[in-house]
Amino acid sequence: MIRNQQEDALSSSPPDKPKLMEGGNYIREGRDSTKSTWLLFSPKSPDSAGNLAKFLTIFSNHGVNLSHIESRSSVRRPGYEFMVECEHGAGDFGAALEDLKEDVGYLNIISRNYKDNRSAVPWFPRRIRDLDRFANQILSYGAELDSDHPGFTDAEYRARRKYFADIAYNYKHGQPLPHVNYTKEEVVTWGVVFRKLTELYPTHACKEHNHVFPLLIENCGYREDNIPQLEDVSNFLKDCTGFTLRPVAGLLSSRDFLAGLAFRVFHSTQYIRHHSRPLYTPEPDVCHELLGHAPLFADPAFAQFSQEIGLASLGAPDDYIEKLATCFWFTVEYGLCRQEGKLKAFGAGLLSSFGELQYCMTDKPQLKEFDPEVTGLTKYPITEYQPVYFVANTFEDAKDKMIKFAHTIPREFGVRYNPYTQSIDILDSSKQMKDLLRDVHQEMGLLINTMDKL
Ligand SMILES: [Fe+2]
Repeated sequence: MIRNQQEDALSSSPPDKPKLMEGGNYIREGRDSTKSTWLLFSPKSPDSAGNLAKFLTIFSNHGVNLSHIESRSSVRRPGYEFMVECEHGAGDFGAALEDLKEDVGYLNIISRNYKDNRSAVPWFPRRIRDLDRFANQILSYGAELDSDHPGFTDAEYRARRKYFADIAYNYKHGQPLPHVNYTKEEVVTWGVVFRKLTELYPTHACKEHNHVFPLLIENCGYREDNIPQLEDVSNFLKDCTGFTLRPVAGLLSSRDFLAGLAFRVFHSTQYIRHHSRPLYTPEPDVCHELLGHAPLFADPAFAQFSQEIGLASLGAPDDYIEKLATCFWFTVEYGLCRQEGKLKAFGAGLLSSFGELQYCMTDKPQLKEFDPEVTGLTKYPITEYQPVYFVANTFEDAKDKMIKFAHTIPREFGVRYNPYTQSIDILDSSKQMKDLLRDVHQEMGLLINTMDKL
């Protein structure tokens, strides 16, 4: 669920409960992540005695309170590293940081409130379970409706929306996706949308969507008289590309939403639009997610393309997050491609809108070639049909362009998704380069061996 990028203030959320340290690359979030900053650093000379005392003196000299101190083995270089949580408010944190820099091998600043410090890397999830931490830092709760929403005066619908928002709010990584008993009225609404859109898919949807859709009918209960369960669709996607769905209680910030894609996790709504206007919804709903998004996430090239946007977003500065979210908007949401000389839709916003799916193929909108540098800077409306669409040659081509664009993002490290541990490897040292090279070498060996056999 991604919308309005102008909104950037995180809504207040309940205080985080302290969590147990779990080692590895797990970066613990503070009691209140906006009131503290985490530092990860290694001593310049790991063998010298008294390193910890020396660092503690630096913080003490500048009056900075530490609420957590930990030493652990370093994944970046031989030896160990320290991880500390510095409380904001007391002392001169900036001066302590300057002194610290003089004495450390490496220093990473990890903070959700990174705007306070220009040299900081914005916090981002390192393990898939870290997605739990921002799942409830939403810009608006799914149960809050604007006064012009079709369901605004419908108390029953509002209660239903709260029910869905609460399900998502309480969801934690690893749990099965909650099964929902949809009401008769909700199924009828789905049926209207399903019938109208499936009339258009053979002629308007890209071949990848048309290839997967019958498989969803066969495996996940896609029918006019049945709203598929997120769990079934998520399991199907997992088998195809490793993508999974995760319920979301409201609107996430662009940064958090994109971070999910890095783990091949798509944050999905589970409620349905108001029955009074079945062909209209002011926000993403289960029709949009399951008819528009889900089929494409089953395609390997599209899945890879989506993940590349997510990986590029990790630790990226704000202006690049906006560019990446805009690229997402013009591809995953409103993308067109050319197949066998004809214009086809692959964006979920189009594939879930009976009106716009027809409109986008008329001569009214302007068409431009997808180019992240240009696309990422293009303004767009969120409440009306798009005046401009970007056309991708193929998903492979779009992915290559995204990777190239990602290289322009100012970041002092590389990132790689490790599917075995479902975590993000940070590449910023020669040791990690060697590990990566060893993996590539192993893959090359497999390739040569298989080619010899063929
Ligand atoms: Fe969407």
